[in-house]
Amino acid sequence: MDTILILDYGSQYTQLIGRRVRELGVYTEILPGDTAVPTVGHECATKNHYVGIILSGSPYSAYDESAPKPDPSLYQTTLPVLGICYGIQRMTVDSGGKVARGPEREYGKKPVHILEHEVLKHDLEDASAGQEPSRIDPLFAGIPSEFSSWMSHGDSIVSPGNGWRVIAESEGGIPAALAHETLPRWGVQFHPEVSHCEHGLDILRSFVFGICKATPSWSMETYLAEISQDIRARVGQSPVLLLISGGVDSTVTGALILKILDPEKVYLLYIDTGLMRQGESEEVMENLKRLGARHLFRVDAESRFLSALKGKTDPEDKRRTIGDLFVQIQEEEVARLGIPDAILAQGTLYTDLIESGKGVGTKAQTIKSHHNVKSPLISAKRAAGLVIEPLDRLYKDEVRNLGRLLGLPESIVSRHPFPGPGLGVRILGEVTKEKCDILRNADKVYIDELHNRGLYNKIWQAFCVLLPVRAVGVAGDERTYGYVVALRAVVSEDGMTASVYPFSPEDLVAISSAITNRNPSVGRVVYDISSKPPATIEWE
Ligand code: XMP
Repeated sequence: MDTILILDYGSQYTQLIGRRVRELGVYTEILPGDTAVPTVGHECATKNHYVGIILSGSPYSAYDESAPKPDPSLYQTTLPVLGICYGIQRMTVDSGGKVARGPEREYGKKPVHILEHEVLKHDLEDASAGQEPSRIDPLFAGIPSEFSSWMSHGDSIVSPGNGWRVIAESEGGIPAALAHETLPRWGVQFHPEVSHCEHGLDILRSFVFGICKATPSWSMETYLAEISQDIRARVGQSPVLLLISGGVDSTVTGALILKILDPEKVYLLYIDTGLMRQGESEEVMENLKRLGARHLFRVDAESRFLSALKGKTDPEDKRRTIGDLFVQIQEEEVARLGIPDAILAQGTLYTDLIESGKGVGTKAQTIKSHHNVKSPLISAKRAAGLVIEPLDRLYKDEVRNLGRLLGLPESIVSRHPFPGPGLGVRILGEVTKEKCDILRNADKVYIDELHNRGLYNKIWQAFCVLLPVRAVGVAGDERTYGYVVALRAVVSEDGMTASVYPFSPEDLVAISSAITNRNPSVGRVVYDISSKPPATIEWE
């Protein structure tokens, strides 16, 4: 399959580049920035065929001692290369050009002007017979000469490297895009992968199809066909065990293995911690039954979790307690099921893989790595080669599409992410059954309101947090002393960074009234207007 290789130098946008190119129907792989090129193409496990390379941005300056450097083979390759931000600065410095810290950081929307260049011998050779050579670089084919880009950089290119020419500039004549005069290399100072960048996707499209000549062959249908064959071959006649968390990823994994394997061989285990959202456990069980699950086990462990959490107020202590008990119950239940030789299926996503050699760059950061419970059972199975991770090449939105293809209802596939420790990290301070019920109720009202107002799918993640304070209020003629609930709603691409969802004041006021009207224990509602960073999405 035609693949674009992305070399990662640690930018927060690396994953986004991969997602955007896949949106165009071309498969992408992210590898550490110093991976040898293109030898790796022949060694790669997925037997892919590289047609082009994109160099990501980086938090480093190209002159930093510890700045990540490409393998020298990058400069030998005949594959087209596009450097983004640090990617082009790196190529500039490595080819004798100069990069320097500008008077101020260029950040946010910045106008870019595409330049017409003088016609060189190479342009004449490229022009079709009888046609005038274009004075606009092919990277900008069909794009208006002025557009609003998205910048995020401290260093700027002062002079291009040997053989490079400037093909677009931003205000003050700062180079915004460059192309090599004879080699298939390009670079942009801005971020075409960020949705605020006008024509960003068009520029990536020009690179991927116009320059790299990629054939679009990446779709969920082809993925499903390919992964089905792989998984069947790996599993053979062994039983498969999947731990269901209630989230999108494990549910889609469940739907997938039930479809492609003999359901008699599939064991699904769901541990109800009592820290789930309202109706969640029932909905998950119902859906898996509908998908043909024969061995579906629900373990009701609410009282064990609540007793373990009794008196605990420190966030890390609470997380540890929940994680440890989860592992303990999981081991007990697996022993009870009597399938010691079972292969373990996991809903790991592409973004969850961080170690080098597993397909994602060493410097890429991920959401779940530091959250996921590392259990001895999973480690032992992994060491014995008994783990299958059928979603490990997919991004979250692709998993949602796969879920749709497998016939999961929209209420499951478009559900907002939910943390492993559940409501345990959304009840600040000590967790009790009473507080879980209050929070579940308030959260349900909030989420229903978002659905009714057509806002749910515009928000990446929304939920209520129960604060460990009470406030005075009045209901009828009576003084009340109710809980305070904070509303959280953020937009994000992957949870790494997030901005506050800009509700209209009318929506906020109506949501607040709905929560207090339907939940007498809640006296006050506040809205959390913190972005990530500096805040995190969850409160604990
Ligand atoms: P934070 O709070 O770190 O959250 O900004 C980023 C994203 O990760 C989710 N999250 C978790 N997911 N186990 C998970 O599977 C966890 O322990 C966990 N903690 C946070 C959070 O909901 C958000 O989507």
